[in-house]
Amino acid sequence: MLKVVVLVSGGGTNLQALIDAVEANTITNAEIIGVISNNRNAYALERAKKHGIEGLCISPKDYDTREAFNDAFLCVLNRMKPDLIVLAGFLVVIPEKMIRQYENRIINIHPSLIPAFCGTGYYGLKVHEGALKRGVKVVGATVHFVDEGTDTGPIILQKAVYVEQGDTPEILQRRVMEQAEWKILPEAVNLIANGRIEVTDGQVIIKE
Ligand code: GAR
Repeated sequence: MLKVVVLVSGGGTNLQALIDAVEANTITNAEIIGVISNNRNAYALERAKKHGIEGLCISPKDYDTREAFNDAFLCVLNRMKPDLIVLAGFLVVIPEKMIRQYENRIINIHPSLIPAFCGTGYYGLKVHEGALKRGVKVVGATVHFVDEGTDTGPIILQKAVYVEQGDTPEILQRRVMEQAEWKILPEAVNLIANGRIEVTDGQVIIKE
């Protein structure tokens, strides 16, 4: 059984998609053992509670230095002994030490087709604002492993979504979630839980 810890900052609809997929058995061989948020008011924590999943909050704001926060954060995570860490709308930079310790065991959902509209400054609604401003006709979402860069790790799954005439960033965000994020994030976790993902030379291979 793959032990999964989900890191969140906000509403937690991607967390919900994971919880639902585990409960519906579309994710097999995995259990969500904990949810960590940097924001104690995150609705994602409520979602965890409703499903009997341990939720806790750790925020950089409660520490004097970033280093102290990073150490405490790693400590909290290590105590949970996760096999896989899922960033589901987590807006805190992952400490390098954590990335090294959990190499190819941290995945992130990003609301664009990487390498478009990604990297520093592109998160949440800003991604969709950027896409609409550029006038692209196809957007989407990406699940990738986390490495030391911002949105630069090996790509696991991507799914395209069409932009429609009259879209606002909010409407587009919702469509990308519904048609792409809530599908490919559970799918990626299921592939990992069933031993079907291999990373070779920075490339993901999906085994039959
Ligand atoms: C999602 O759209 C996710 O892709 C995005 O934040 C949102 C969180 O929503 N993540 C990023 O932009 C990371 N760079 P949720 O809390 O409802 O899952």
